[in-house]
Amino acid sequence: MQIFQTENTPSPIETAKSATLAQAIVKANAAVQNGVKPFSGEFFRECFAVAEAGDKIEQYFNRAIQNPTGLYMFFQRYTHFNAYTSAVISRLASSIAMSRYLFSDPTVETIEEADRGFNLAAKVMIAASDEGTNDGAPHRTLAQLLLRTMGDYAELSVAERNQFAAVPAWLTDICNGIMEGYSGVPGDAVSLIRSMGFHAASELFGDIEYELVDKVVRYDNKDVGFDAFLRKTPAAELCGHRYHPWGYVLVHASHKGAAGVEACHFECVVDALNMVANYRPESKEQIMQWALEGFEQFMNLEQDMFARVDAETQAFVAAQAVKELALV
Ligand SMILES: [Fe+2]
Ligand SMILES: [Fe+2]
Repeated sequence: MQIFQTENTPSPIETAKSATLAQAIVKANAAVQNGVKPFSGEFFRECFAVAEAGDKIEQYFNRAIQNPTGLYMFFQRYTHFNAYTSAVISRLASSIAMSRYLFSDPTVETIEEADRGFNLAAKVMIAASDEGTNDGAPHRTLAQLLLRTMGDYAELSVAERNQFAAVPAWLTDICNGIMEGYSGVPGDAVSLIRSMGFHAASELFGDIEYELVDKVVRYDNKDVGFDAFLRKTPAAELCGHRYHPWGYVLVHASHKGAAGVEACHFECVVDALNMVANYRPESKEQIMQWALEGFEQFMNLEQDMFARVDAETQAFVAAQAVKELALV
């Protein structure tokens, strides 16, 4: 049975915003018909060109690391973006938890006892609470330590660092898109499922990005450039604990070390989506479509962010080189 193609209702494939999403929905249909679990890491990776997107991200990191000031600028933009993705997770957890009787266990007859909104929200709250890391430094604080270290590496003055704090309008627009897509609307199941798909993309790509930047900096450029600088940079005291600047990356993911929190957060939201597939009356295919829409929405914003930050950084570095030549 092709759930997405009936005669009386417009096919979601026809109304899909992009060919990529349409292809993902076809793959989702096929997956359900083959009896596989609705959501998994493999599922999302197969539905979208995740590996190709990762290759592009690796190229961006490779270009950024070529110039110390470019590296600072690139990471100022990247951590600015990540500060929003991190901040908004708790909104999604709250939106789900505030929704009554939307997600119900069909095996429980009493309406009040069947309500499972908080069970789903608890899965998302794991990611939200890790941003604060209980007694330790929040991830934002770790990001600031890394950026400070990159500024030291580039030998930038305070004034030079502060010029980057005025972020371009396009980055603000992208961050606003992140806030909107991530938050979910309490009481609106479709919005919440899309936002869970959005969250899944943010965690999966977070895992990929941090793993790649660790590879580029500490393995592909071992003992040179920024890696050499990092190796002689001591740990700093933050919030009563000592942290190495690269800890910000390693807590999220690493190239050859143990899995970081991003992989765990992704598994949590996959669990939540599989619970949704059991706790909603719609078909699994429909639930998957909504989640895929959210996943694609995040992926597009994130890819756009990287492409623009890369272009902006490379233009800045080229302009700096011209200025320096003129001074010679
Ligand atoms: Fe984080
Ligand atoms: Fe995360």
